[in-house]
Amino acid sequence: MAVVGKRILVTGGAGFIGSHSVACLQDAGHEVLVLDDLSTGHRTNLPDDRVLTVGDIRDAALLDALLPGVDGILHLAALVSVPRSIEAPRESLSRNVDGTLSVLEGARRHGVDRVVIASSAAVYGAATPPIAEHLPIAPLSPYGLEKATCEAYARLYGELHGLETVCLRYFNVYGPRQDPASPYSGVLSILADRARSGRPFTIHGNGLQTRDFVHAADVAEANLKALVTPGIAGLVANIGTGRQTSVAAMAHLVRKLLPSAPAPEHGPVRSGDIPDSWAATEAARACLGWQAQIPLEAGLEDLLMRSRAA
Ligand code: NAD
Ligand code: UD1
Repeated sequence: MAVVGKRILVTGGAGFIGSHSVACLQDAGHEVLVLDDLSTGHRTNLPDDRVLTVGDIRDAALLDALLPGVDGILHLAALVSVPRSIEAPRESLSRNVDGTLSVLEGARRHGVDRVVIASSAAVYGAATPPIAEHLPIAPLSPYGLEKATCEAYARLYGELHGLETVCLRYFNVYGPRQDPASPYSGVLSILADRARSGRPFTIHGNGLQTRDFVHAADVAEANLKALVTPGIAGLVANIGTGRQTSVAAMAHLVRKLLPSAPAPEHGPVRSGDIPDSWAATEAARACLGWQAQIPLEAGLEDLLMRSRAA
């Protein structure tokens, strides 16, 4: 694929990471189409909602209408919550695995050059960090198992049909437009929302569990590189910063930045929670020429100063 002027379909483009990715692809000179059922995404996340088709990735007829002339697909649409996947495993399976198969099938039918798939650090389960791509797949939740299955389908579609696929295992993505509205939302969106509204934040367990928090604008750049870098078909790469931060440390940092924020409370450990997670980042650097640029403190401070719609 040449580097500019391509037509890219972004599934889940009205979601959190999707909205950053759409802006990044457009800025790089690509034509973007978005397919999103708005189950968790919002029309207002998009800079220009004329690119949006509201519908379901599992609708083959809809994909047949959208895919002619498309060069690449950035497949982000999914049910993204680990606890929600435990409570509603069939819905999660359907959206995540059936949905991905539907996108791969559409790509095969229409001769799309490359599909970039949003996978997750959740595929590794309780691996000891720093987590490298060669470590065994051992998910602790239906969500992690589904993402691992999507990766396996992607590899198979490369072997069976010559479809170029790239799977990016994002670590914990944060930034503007991550919806804090539900208990299933990403932790930093909830933490920032609670701090701004003066309500207490609940830490699940002792808060010593760690995550590798990577900014959505950095992830969008990785998505762009995965779509346009030549010679990387079949790549599976971590997308993280390589830095480990505990949930308790984040709560502490928020109170330092916003002293009016109430002290956190503690609740029970969440089922399916992985204990520690931070990425080995060499593969993304070597194969995509990508590494995270936005320091966590700066990203968090920016998040605290904004409203959700910003
Ligand atoms: P999000 O919920 O904001 O985005 C998902 C989007 O997909 C939403 O706009 C939703 O409306 C749409 N969608 C869901 N099911 C659909 C369907 N069947 N048809 C059409 N659209 C559908 O979540 P996000 O955080 O932006 O996640 C994007 C992708 O990144 C997901 O695949 C997620 O699993 C993956 N990921 C996210 C993180 C993170 O920390 N946020 C980390 C690892 C992987
Ligand atoms: C997140 C993503 C998932 C992604 C994975 C990759 C979301 C909603 N989930 O899962 O899509 O694949 O990273 O690593 O973006 N916590 C609290 N209090 C809260 C909320 C959360 O203490 O109110 C804790 C959780 O128990 C967990 C940590 O914060 O230990 C992170 O939780 P969460 O943001 O839900 O992310 P993951 O489960 O890591």
